[in-house]
Amino acid sequence: MNRRETGMEKNIIDVLARRASVRAYDKERPLPQGVLEKLLTAAMQAPTTGNMQLYSVIITDSTDGKERLKQLHFGQPMAADCAALLTFCADVHRFGRWCAARKAQSGLDNGGGMLMAMEDAVIFAQQFVTLAEAEGLGTCYLGTVPYNIEAFAKELNLPSGVMPLFSVAVGYPAGERPAPSDRLPLEAVMHHEKYRRPAADDIDAWYSAKEALPESVRFIAENGKETLAQVYADVRYPRAQNEKIAADLVPFFFC
Ligand SMILES: Cc1cc2nc3c(=O)[nH]c(=O)nc-3n(C[C@H](O)[C@H](O)[C@H](O)COP(=O)(O)O)c2cc1C
Repeated sequence: MNRRETGMEKNIIDVLARRASVRAYDKERPLPQGVLEKLLTAAMQAPTTGNMQLYSVIITDSTDGKERLKQLHFGQPMAADCAALLTFCADVHRFGRWCAARKAQSGLDNGGGMLMAMEDAVIFAQQFVTLAEAEGLGTCYLGTVPYNIEAFAKELNLPSGVMPLFSVAVGYPAGERPAPSDRLPLEAVMHHEKYRRPAADDIDAWYSAKEALPESVRFIAENGKETLAQVYADVRYPRAQNEKIAADLVPFFFC
């Protein structure tokens, strides 16, 4: 029996089944020396497009630095309360510099390159998050970077071709870990051979548990809406906001 067939595989499934985003951190408990380097080194073994590693990560662990990034993250407290805030970036700059130094011209400064770099950065980041959780740390993504992308680039001194995507807060949880949050049933996301368009009854069945959660009922009331979908579509992720992000992102990457 090899290692994959022993407890190792089960452990990671257990870690993921219990996982939940941590937004409250123990401010008195720093990370052990070298743990970020250990986890990031392991995370770099994640698959990457053509083994180009089209990503970078900026670690912010000074009190001042975290406080400045917290402001850019619309004041989310965990940005300053965590032990370290890691901002993951899609990066075609380093690869372009290598090409230029080796009599080659990078062909990645376009939409195709942007897609590859985003894929690489997301896979790297999530590999790190899984490892951090397995190490007993808490983590939470902060997706508020694209709303303030120029300010993040300035604060983190990013050259062109380096696009910050999100930050990840890392640290020891303060108190109890949150309970895992709800997910759709597997049948809602898993298809065999061909995509099966959901019937109206499927949508009702798959989303009803989420809609019945006390926090969903509260969101609907607080926002004066009729349905949870309206809260998502009109309040949390409205079209105009997403179109502004798209309009800012593309020129940012290519300038
Ligand atoms: C790309 C991305 C951006 C996110 N941004 C935020 C954020 O800005 N603030 C926050 O509190 N949670 C953020 N989250 C966490 C999600 O809200 C959370 O993962 C989701 O509600 C499911 O909960 P769970 O992680 O506890 O299972 C983000 C997650 C992802 C993947």
